[in-house]
Amino acid sequence: MSSYDLVIRGGTLYDGTGAEGRRADVAVRGDRIAEVADAVAAPGATVVDAAGLAVAPGFLDVHTHDDFAALLHPEMGFKVQGGVTTVVVGNCGMGAAPWAQACGYAAAFHPGRSLPAWDGYAGYLAQLDAAPASCNVAALVGHGAVRAAVLGGDARAPSDAELDAMRAIVREGIEAGCVGLSTGLIYEPGRHARSDEIAALAGEARANGGLYATHMRDEGAGLLDSVREAIAIGERAGVPVQISHHKAAGRGSWGLVRDSLRLIDEARARGVDVTADQYPYTAASTVLAAVVSYFERSETSDGHASRVGEPPSGGERGQKGGVGQGDARDVVLSSAPNNPAWEGRSIADLAAEWSVAPLDAARRVLDAEGIAATVVIHNMSEDDVRTVMRHPTTMIGSDGLPMLHGKPHPRLYGTFARVLGTYVREQGVLPLAEAIHRMTGLSARRFGLTDRGEVRAGACADLVVFDPARIADVATYADPHHSPAGIARVFVNGTEVVRDGAHTGARPGRTLRKR
Ligand code: ZN
Ligand code: CU
Repeated sequence: MSSYDLVIRGGTLYDGTGAEGRRADVAVRGDRIAEVADAVAAPGATVVDAAGLAVAPGFLDVHTHDDFAALLHPEMGFKVQGGVTTVVVGNCGMGAAPWAQACGYAAAFHPGRSLPAWDGYAGYLAQLDAAPASCNVAALVGHGAVRAAVLGGDARAPSDAELDAMRAIVREGIEAGCVGLSTGLIYEPGRHARSDEIAALAGEARANGGLYATHMRDEGAGLLDSVREAIAIGERAGVPVQISHHKAAGRGSWGLVRDSLRLIDEARARGVDVTADQYPYTAASTVLAAVVSYFERSETSDGHASRVGEPPSGGERGQKGGVGQGDARDVVLSSAPNNPAWEGRSIADLAAEWSVAPLDAARRVLDAEGIAATVVIHNMSEDDVRTVMRHPTTMIGSDGLPMLHGKPHPRLYGTFARVLGTYVREQGVLPLAEAIHRMTGLSARRFGLTDRGEVRAGACADLVVFDPARIADVATYADPHHSPAGIARVFVNGTEVVRDGAHTGARPGRTLRKR
């Protein structure tokens, strides 16, 4: 009887399929799970006593902006110390190629840092292969970068030749192994794209079975039209649809998720493959520039939402008058590297101090900080968060902004632990096995990451050992830079990256390419 490199003994195994926890040992040889049994007889070079603990596949963070963090902060402590073993980068239209456009995104989260040059998605993935991160990385092609490379900031449809040029960029990414195409339809320049442009580009993902992931045009009053557009694009392009960070934003829109989830169910019933992801918080987070342009559009609009598939003329808020005191109180600066004293303060607060209108205060911050100004926006209802989480097609993705400075939204660190602690243990929103499935097996299958997301013989040895009675998010809005409690061990491709909550320094991550 040969021995194993690692045996995790005596834990309760949640295998990622959604099956109930059961007492089992897990044995690893090299980078693979070699045996799963009630009791593994063979010895292990390393033995982990998991009595009283849960053993699960490493978590897949399906919605991240870690494209550049994986290179600049390759230990990725804010992820792996929270149990994450794989990140999907390139969300919300912000991709890692073309390089010149990617550098614009990097400036938002990594001000002052420069990146080595690379050529296309193949070049980006090769960089990560040469200098691996501590976790695995799968990439989406970001539509915003593609559009910016061909059309700059133009608010118009592409010519046939321009659409062909955009298609070629997307195709390069898909051929390099990207897992699909993402859009960010509130952002410049993605918001100028019509449905037919997006459907044409998303169709390129059919070549390798990739999906279409979208930060929709409007997550507020126009939520339902936005979901209809996302579904229609998937249908036209012939690719699965992933609705990113599903929510109803803004008090006037609370409750709309019941209808948006019904739209998902109806589409699925007629054979359209639609799913969603979610982070478990009632606050959103993005760059201040997007919030200011949204408020400016609503200030000048006639109050009518844009038609489905059309770039908005403004007015998604469905009301005139721009940013009120109430909105401004809900928008809190999370990063202002030139003026760190502003971090943690609301736009309303700064406006009062400066004796200016909230929109002017926001513009003043933007002038001082540019794209590096990010905000946390308290705009969701707890009820809606739970409703979306209960839906069987919702998986977990943090949408964390990977900033080691400022006060990033705590979802960067706490997302998975918060689901398992707050929503599973304390509130009983989901059974533990189901919640784990939504962050492992379901996610891996969705993004075509074969051999991940499940604990079974032959699968890659991405594993997390945690205490279900103690796991909890520790990061807060005021003090976010803390990894969760209750995570004992994390293994990536069979190598230990976290022990007793601390990073081991190992960087065994791989790039995951879809073929
Ligand atoms: Zn987004
Ligand atoms: Cu995002």
